[in-house]
Amino acid sequence: MSYTILKTEVHEHVALIRLNRPEALNALNRAVMEELAQALIAFDEDPEVGAIVITGDERAFAAGADIKEMADASAIDMLTDDYLTPLDTIRRVRKPVIAAVSGWCLGGGNEVAMACDMIVASETAKFGQPEVNIGVFPGAGGTQRLTRAVGKAIAMEMILNNRTLSADEAFRFGLVNRVVPEELYLEEALTLANEIATRAPLAVRLGKEMVNQAFESFLAEGVADERRAFYFLFNSEDKTEGMRAFIEKRKPEWKGK
Ligand code: CAA
Repeated sequence: MSYTILKTEVHEHVALIRLNRPEALNALNRAVMEELAQALIAFDEDPEVGAIVITGDERAFAAGADIKEMADASAIDMLTDDYLTPLDTIRRVRKPVIAAVSGWCLGGGNEVAMACDMIVASETAKFGQPEVNIGVFPGAGGTQRLTRAVGKAIAMEMILNNRTLSADEAFRFGLVNRVVPEELYLEEALTLANEIATRAPLAVRLGKEMVNQAFESFLAEGVADERRAFYFLFNSEDKTEGMRAFIEKRKPEWKGK
């Protein structure tokens, strides 16, 4: 598929999606959000792709939703346009999605990163929810996901008082997985994604689903669903192959079946 704004590539078994509006610090306008949703769906369905990386550029992952596009919108416009709905697609992707973040990661940009499964950050990354400066607050999952990621105290400061986190702070507070020098952040994310893409696909898919469920259900319910998903994998060829390969001291060959 081709896109007018996004750039996409495939590296081995990893799809790379680049937000590509550098003149607006990759602000998420309607067209970017729709193309992002389309690209995610296409790569999720592509059997050659095992994991997806979303990135921006060195200066910005994304500086938020497009303020210029939203400036004159009414509540009814936002509702009838389903303005932020395309971003919900990230959560529906079955394959692992990693955000590779450098520079500004603000507002809707941070909400996109947090909707991904993991975040690899450059030392230059800066995370924030500055919406309060423009008379709103995070509307694409930020109040919920940020609070789960960093806890109430820091989330309150970020959302109510525009506290920005450095990459190191974001790592310490549990928002990001790793912090690397700027020249390595994309390579690091691609390497991590490629490693995951070589693992048993069904186990990765269900593992991701169950970790995400931990944020959405009561403990007993989550543990019961985990148990069923675990037993379910015993019907897969990959489970037989994985356990046999361990016993035979060889590398497993995954089929995704
Ligand atoms: N929307 C639209 N355009 C944006 C933008 C945004 N979110 N962020 C930056 N831009 C544009 C700027 O208007 C500027 O364009 P022009 O050259 O045409 O003026 C260009 O990108 C470069 O930005 P700056 O000149 O401002 O760059 P800077 O280095 O001086 O500042 C910054 C960088 C601190 C990130 C600053 O651009 C900024 O504060 N941006 C807005 C951040 C923000 O408020 N994000 C939240 C948006 S609302 C939201 O996301 C709601 C939600 O929850 C879904």
